[in-house]
Amino acid sequence: MSDLKLSDLTQTDLNKLDVVERYTHFAPVYNQSVNDWGYQCYRTATDALQHYVATEQAILDAGCGTGLVGQALKERGYHQVSGIDISAEMLNQAETVGAYQQLLLQDLSKTPYPFETNQFSAITCVGVFSLIANPSHVLQEFCRLVRPQGYLVFTQQETLFEQYGYAEILQDFEQRGELRCESISEPVAYLPHRAGHQDRKVIYCVYQVIKD
Ligand SMILES: C[S@@+](CC[C@H](N)C(=O)[O-])C[C@H]1O[C@@H](n2cnc3c(N)ncnc32)[C@H](O)[C@@H]1O
Repeated sequence: MSDLKLSDLTQTDLNKLDVVERYTHFAPVYNQSVNDWGYQCYRTATDALQHYVATEQAILDAGCGTGLVGQALKERGYHQVSGIDISAEMLNQAETVGAYQQLLLQDLSKTPYPFETNQFSAITCVGVFSLIANPSHVLQEFCRLVRPQGYLVFTQQETLFEQYGYAEILQDFEQRGELRCESISEPVAYLPHRAGHQDRKVIYCVYQVIKD
């Protein structure tokens, strides 16, 4: 396994990192660890989604991990939620949550995903883009999968948002008439109780998919 720490990634490192192996080891202790670290992204992101998407709508949780987003969606009444992730062990944990209609092993960087165009009303992608080397490619696939006027709710760490040029990438989608920015949050605490990570911040993005 690579000696790289997830927290020290650069975009080049992402290509070398064995995400699958890393999450195989992390899966059994993920929920306890992120709870100890004060991770709230799954709650904040689902709160944001709730403003825009009715509970009977179909949602794709991309990079669903152990199912924390699915659990939060279930608690808010969503019952048509699908999950995809690159890690079988994380998906095994997600299965136990009972929040997902279907769970599929899928690498987000390998498109197309096995879903119909316009199949979903929204996609959540929480805590995942920090591990994605080519966000444009993934966002393009998200645009295909979400119906016109549907929503994308995703997070990115503040430093990576800047380092990877997310503002420019998202502006390109807006200029092509594929996405409309609904909100980009101020950077807020990411893992406030994790030693050495207290100053790390995360940004929440809500975009509407436009297909006129
Ligand atoms: C920090 S966890 C976040 C999980 C969940 N969304 C949450 O908020 O708790 C990152 C997840 O992204 C998944 N992931 C990373 N790269 C991926 C890729 N290329 N394709 C699919 N899933 C990926 C990992 O397996 C892991 O489950």
